[in-house]
Amino acid sequence: MYLPQCCSVSPNGRLLMDGLDVADIAREYGTPLYLMSEESIVSACRLFTDTLKAAYPGQSVTAYASKALSCKYILSLARREGLWADVVSGGELYTALAAGFDPRNIIYHGNNKTEGELTYALASGVGYFVADSTRELYLLDELSGKAGARPDVALRLKPGIEAHTHEYVQTGKIDSKFGIPMETDEALRAAEIAAGMKNISLAGLHCHIGSQIFISEPFVCAAQTLLRFAGQTGLPLRDVNIGGGFGIRYTDSQTPEDISAMLAAAANAVVLAAGEQGLPLPRLMCEPGRSVVGPAGITLYTVGGVKHIPGVRTYVSVDGGMTDNIRHALYGAEYTAALAERMREPPDAAVTIAGRACESGDLIGTNMPLANAKPGDILAIFATGAYNYSMASNYNRVPRPPIVVARGGRAEAVVRRETYEDLTRCDL
Ligand code: LLP
Repeated sequence: MYLPQCCSVSPNGRLLMDGLDVADIAREYGTPLYLMSEESIVSACRLFTDTLKAAYPGQSVTAYASKALSCKYILSLARREGLWADVVSGGELYTALAAGFDPRNIIYHGNNKTEGELTYALASGVGYFVADSTRELYLLDELSGKAGARPDVALRLKPGIEAHTHEYVQTGKIDSKFGIPMETDEALRAAEIAAGMKNISLAGLHCHIGSQIFISEPFVCAAQTLLRFAGQTGLPLRDVNIGGGFGIRYTDSQTPEDISAMLAAAANAVVLAAGEQGLPLPRLMCEPGRSVVGPAGITLYTVGGVKHIPGVRTYVSVDGGMTDNIRHALYGAEYTAALAERMREPPDAAVTIAGRACESGDLIGTNMPLANAKPGDILAIFATGAYNYSMASNYNRVPRPPIVVARGGRAEAVVRRETYEDLTRCDL
């Protein structure tokens, strides 16, 4: 069974995270509960910075894509590890600033940033924006002028690469809401326009080709495409940002390439392509989200009812569900499940794990091998550190779970559980 690196099993069959008994923590803090390993997050941050240092002879920046999990704790950890922050909204920006980020190390993204958000970001001293359209360049130039700022701006290009888990295609497809198309002359024109603007500094090029990518090739192809474009512009572009998307494992059947291998391949491609284009080595930037926090998190639930429907399926119901993990309902995402106190018991059946929301699609997964679950058991779902808390909702007026972190041999809450009072806080 797939177990993330931060987890192990004690001789008496109990699930441990960094040596701590997971079920004990679940009973102390209550369920549902997000439990995260600080050591795992720190080593993921270092994997990116160390790999880039070793594999890339130029300067490099790793920015944490905070959409994967945004709270003060995680952002201040990323900051202390020397990462920059990638934010896509005023709320993510507010959180990064509250976590002590130097605004010059914040990259502001988004396909439709509002004027209010841009004004807030400029007033806060955000030093880097990724422009998604020519219209946004004009808006940024105007608002930067008003704010008396001159931020760096990279152009988000649409390189026409579609990356899926195990394959990629170069479609040249321009049907995406993100970025500036390269197959028309719009991207070249945008670069010229940006280079001529008074209140922004055209700093480089950006692309993000997908998420949960398991192989190097699409990153290599994206790097080559950006460098070729940089050569075509004839402009001095300092930065090349290959985005995020480095895939992680959720189940036994998934076999992503090592992240360091994917990143090193992309770094190599940048070196080669810069040489071919006769360009100086750019500063290489990347923006991982999922791979920084995903494997570090597990979600713990208490099993409630178990319904055997003979010849159909067995439903194991838990005290959370789509309100804390919508990824199966939304994308058919697959996870690995286990009973935290009976890890050595072999699977009894392949079950459907159901949430508590009034929605038949509220499932954590189907066909999940699990030992014979009984009411009161603590059930663990692995690799839920990314896009679970950040996509959680209060559907059915369910309070969002806390985040507890295992660090230095103890467990500590870094986000508290919502109360019923929190739920009515905005009601007038
Ligand atoms: N940079 C940009 C511009 C992005 O749009 C994203 C993710 C990232 C970086 C980080 O990608 P990562 O390393 O996390 O794959 N909610 C979906 C994932 C959406 C990803 C959106 N963009 C999920 O739960 O699978």
